[in-house]
Amino acid sequence: RVLVLDFGSQYAQLIARRVREQNVYCEIVRHDITAERIKELAPVGIILSGGPSSVYADGAPQCDPGLFELGVPVLGICYGMQLACKALGGDVKNVTSREYGRAHCDVVDDSDLFHNVAPQTEVWMSHGDQVTDIAEGFIALANTPTCPYAAVRHKSLPVYGLQFHPEVTHSVDGKRVLGNFLHEVCKATGAWRLGDFADEMIARVREQVGSDRVICGLSGGVDSAVVAALLAKAIGPQLSCILVDNGLLRKGEQEAVVREFSDHFKTDLHVVEAEEQFLRVLSGVSDPQEKRRRIGNEFIECFKAEAAKVEGARFLAQGTLYPDVIESGAAVDGPADTIKLHHNVGGLPAELGFELVEPLRDLFKDEVRRLGLQLGLPEEIVWRHPFPGPGLAVRCLGEITKEKLETLREADDIVVGEIKAAGLYRDTSQAFAVLLPVQSVGVMGDSRTYENALAVRCVNTDDFMTADWSHLPHALLAKISTRVINEVKGVNRVVYDISSKPPATIEWE
Ligand code: XMP
Repeated sequence: RVLVLDFGSQYAQLIARRVREQNVYCEIVRHDITAERIKELAPVGIILSGGPSSVYADGAPQCDPGLFELGVPVLGICYGMQLACKALGGDVKNVTSREYGRAHCDVVDDSDLFHNVAPQTEVWMSHGDQVTDIAEGFIALANTPTCPYAAVRHKSLPVYGLQFHPEVTHSVDGKRVLGNFLHEVCKATGAWRLGDFADEMIARVREQVGSDRVICGLSGGVDSAVVAALLAKAIGPQLSCILVDNGLLRKGEQEAVVREFSDHFKTDLHVVEAEEQFLRVLSGVSDPQEKRRRIGNEFIECFKAEAAKVEGARFLAQGTLYPDVIESGAAVDGPADTIKLHHNVGGLPAELGFELVEPLRDLFKDEVRRLGLQLGLPEEIVWRHPFPGPGLAVRCLGEITKEKLETLREADDIVVGEIKAAGLYRDTSQAFAVLLPVQSVGVMGDSRTYENALAVRCVNTDDFMTADWSHLPHALLAKISTRVINEVKGVNRVVYDISSKPPATIEWE
């Protein structure tokens, strides 16, 4: 196995996924794990993740310097490289030429990490600090115009460093570089297979719940659908599902859930029609955080009330994935404190009084999708773009009304429908409409209009931590614009969002 030391979980998780994708088993551990403990775990390689700190900041997370002496190959990425270089005598400084985004990288040594990588490649940088002076013992493997040590290797120890992020897809040869580290340097066999999830997990669920009743919340999203499908197969008649329709769902979402779970899996499905309630608590609220807070609270109330109607329920099934487990610090040797990117609105608190069933705890999102297909869920559900817990509320900027939601829902349906029709839905990670609280002048026929503007947001990302706006064909954008303006009442202008993340976020609120 390979250990990823976590210096800021968003980086660590993505690295772990990339390692697993190369069929090498991988676990994320705390950054302060001792060299002794590492020795016990006997990994074939160690990766030091990136992180948001500066290695010289007060309280900056450190690693046990003893790990460099174990003889186990170490790859430091970004912050991890700075730590490794500092620990072995190099110098790290906050330089004026900070680098964020794409950079051209020249490979100067293609012997191991850069084996089979083009001499000039594109890498993704995100750093303020950089190694300004490598210690005697290191040699440079690659550089960028502003970063002389974009990649380094120790002369005698198996210690490597990358200033760029090989784990993000924007680093064109990142996969190969990571693969070279795993297979050539660490000599990992790449024999680890995920196996047949479905049977194994069904057996585990049966063992855990015995003959008791299980409640499962459905949202229309992939994770909850896969959990419900798995439970339907494992313990069908003991399962009750709850869908809270908060009036903030996408067009046709409730119907799709009913079709799949009530009609197809024949599950006991409770649909809570709560639109009026949610509109009431959101009335007059325009602050994004306050909207999220109220939606989260209302959801819990609705769910609780409905769950109380299910007699004899002992378990609550949740679509907790491996990244959530790591973030909560519940993993073995898991990280101490991590950066939570989102307060996950739409989740349930622990105090509901149920025992938890979390069959997806060991899986990453792409693994969950594969499982969903194995269980017979339709592609439409399995490949649906992620949707935030607070739903259309965070895409209907400012105060929310039923009319605005209706406008947004129709426009969103056109945006997504046209992207699907162009065959580009799977090539984009998230595509949606945002109704702006901005009115502008237009002309339709002979009359002047003064109506709302709608933004189209479409991004490509692997991890939702960084994202690039999708370069959709102009003809498609034109079609979306024409259809929205012609078919959706109240919209007379469509704009396309061309901001990447960072610095913008994917959602507008
Ligand atoms: P941002 O807007 O921060 O979003 O770039 C990153 C990803 O998270 C989703 N998102 C949420 N998901 N509850 C969720 O379950 C939320 O409150 C929430 N807010 C944002 C967003 O859609 C994107 O995929």
